[in-house]
Amino acid sequence: MSRHYLMCRPTYFAVDYAINPWMDPSAPVDADLAIAQWTTLVDTYRSLGHTVEFIDPVPGLPDMVFAANGATVVDGTVLGVSFTHAERAAEGPAYLDWFARAGFRTQEPKATNEGEGDMLLTAGHLLAGTGFRTDIAAHLEAQELFGVPVITLQLVDPRFYHLDTALTVLHRDPADPRPAVAYLPEAFSEGSRKVLERLFPNAIHADIADATVLGLNAASDGRHVVMPVQAAGLAEKLASNGYQPVPVDMSELLKAGGGPKCCTLEVRR
Ligand code: ARG
Repeated sequence: MSRHYLMCRPTYFAVDYAINPWMDPSAPVDADLAIAQWTTLVDTYRSLGHTVEFIDPVPGLPDMVFAANGATVVDGTVLGVSFTHAERAAEGPAYLDWFARAGFRTQEPKATNEGEGDMLLTAGHLLAGTGFRTDIAAHLEAQELFGVPVITLQLVDPRFYHLDTALTVLHRDPADPRPAVAYLPEAFSEGSRKVLERLFPNAIHADIADATVLGLNAASDGRHVVMPVQAAGLAEKLASNGYQPVPVDMSELLKAGGGPKCCTLEVRR
């Protein structure tokens, strides 16, 4: 149940450009509050018994705090990322370099992919989002590299531009009868909804109110679900399905379109 995470302090966090509908460069951002909220997230993970490692923030990369976009890591193998937007391009090599130095087997990306923002591991599959950021060609790349069957999911709402804003993985134990995922059905194409229903017939369905506070941008260890405090309805649904919601306030990071999961990259050795 104890997890290993990589995170990046929001030292240079700002909303200087707009690459998703949440970002408004003319709205004020409290940089100190962003750091305080992120620090609370780190402390929360540690109090739950998780290991947190850090990558050095790079000046001029205000979105580097969103570590989930830095890589996809499965069994010690790392697929690097290649961003859709030029503003974030330099983050890719920085994260891949961290993993190379830490002794992981790394692979440079060929197609555009934004890491765990769009690739989420379940017990049997790698769920892979496309539509706004990650190119479908990267799904095949990930499948070949990891040898895990990839399920392509089509995202259709620009507010939920990364898979981890529309769906959260709650556990990865094939023997666990509780719902393994929670998601917002409307964020997916009709066909992808059917795929999700087929794979996860007892999934938790979030509603739009919970999704629009990025309630689905949550990090679960199989028992505790660290999630935005604003998503009260989803927290109730999780609790009634045997999970323990652990609320955190990430209001400043939300101004860039990110929540707790976006700030967290799972390192699977
Ligand atoms: N401003 C960032 C972007 O639009 C936010 C990334 C959020 N990360 C995530 N894993 N959803 O790219």
